[in-house]
Amino acid sequence: MTAIRGATTISADTADEIRTETARLLNEIVKQNSLDISQVSCIFFSSTQDITAIYPAKAAREAGFSSCALFSCMEPPISGSLPLCIRVMLQTEQHIDAPRYVYLNEAVRLRTDLSGILNIAIDGPAGSGKSTVARELARRLSILHLDTGATYRAYALGCLRLGADPADEESVKSVSDRIEIDVTYDGVQHTLLNGEDVSDKIRTPEVSMAASTVSKIGFVRERMVALQQAVAKKGSCVLEGRDIGTKVLPDSRFKFFVTASPEERARRRFLQDKSKGGTETMENILADITARDRQDETRAISPLVCAPDAVYVDTSAMSADEVVSYIMRKVQEKI
Ligand code: DC
Repeated sequence: MTAIRGATTISADTADEIRTETARLLNEIVKQNSLDISQVSCIFFSSTQDITAIYPAKAAREAGFSSCALFSCMEPPISGSLPLCIRVMLQTEQHIDAPRYVYLNEAVRLRTDLSGILNIAIDGPAGSGKSTVARELARRLSILHLDTGATYRAYALGCLRLGADPADEESVKSVSDRIEIDVTYDGVQHTLLNGEDVSDKIRTPEVSMAASTVSKIGFVRERMVALQQAVAKKGSCVLEGRDIGTKVLPDSRFKFFVTASPEERARRRFLQDKSKGGTETMENILADITARDRQDETRAISPLVCAPDAVYVDTSAMSADEVVSYIMRKVQEKI
């Protein structure tokens, strides 16, 4: 006899969501453990108190688990626990040496007790949509999102403010001990330059190009990589950048390279800029993206490159939501 655990979350307290996600969770447990359904003797469910539309046990019955005993109960309200969460324990007569527990949707973060800190690496070129994707992924998993580009941007802003030329290593070195970068969180990331929150001020075309330029310098990269690794070591997070899979987290089991054609990336940036009242032309944006690609891909230290063990995701014909769901699935498969 073997007991197999699992959990999932639903996005709304509706009978349809409970049916779909309960069936998906059970089917995944069956698939990953090669179970014979006729050997399943009973399934226990517990769900959080915000789930009231139907019992998960009823959903299991409807999903074809017709001959085993089913039981559902409601969990006590625990402050800080995952909302809209269904937990399951399935008992089978089969003996399974190493049962595979299955955690889906936001419930993957319940596995940090078993799998340690979850660090996900998302790399890709400018305008690939990796920020949107990384932010949403972190939100769904309830873990931090570290935008590492923001740390290079803040460094570049520090150079510009102190009159240093980002292209001149000696000039950057001469101001470096007057530049201190840090990140803090209050639900979102705040990037600090000498204690000042510069999160908005680093989003100009001038700082973008200066960040790409200053990030070619070895000692700048060493400082920023050390900062990024310290954040990743403290807790679970999604890190996005150019060298996360190759340099910052070379041992991560979760690496993704998110990209799209330069034209598609320029089109997305153009629409984003326009929605914020910007007046940048498509031609200028495409030229900026192409120039940054060239600089980021050809620099000597940690160039932008897809790590050999990263999942390559061409998002040209995908919505941000599709990309996030795809990456979530890939993460869950490996957990
Ligand atoms: O992701 P972004 O556009 O905010 O990044 C700004 C610049 O910082 C980018 O052109 C290259 C550099 N960068 C880097 O070299 N390594 C990273 N991990 C992130 C960004």
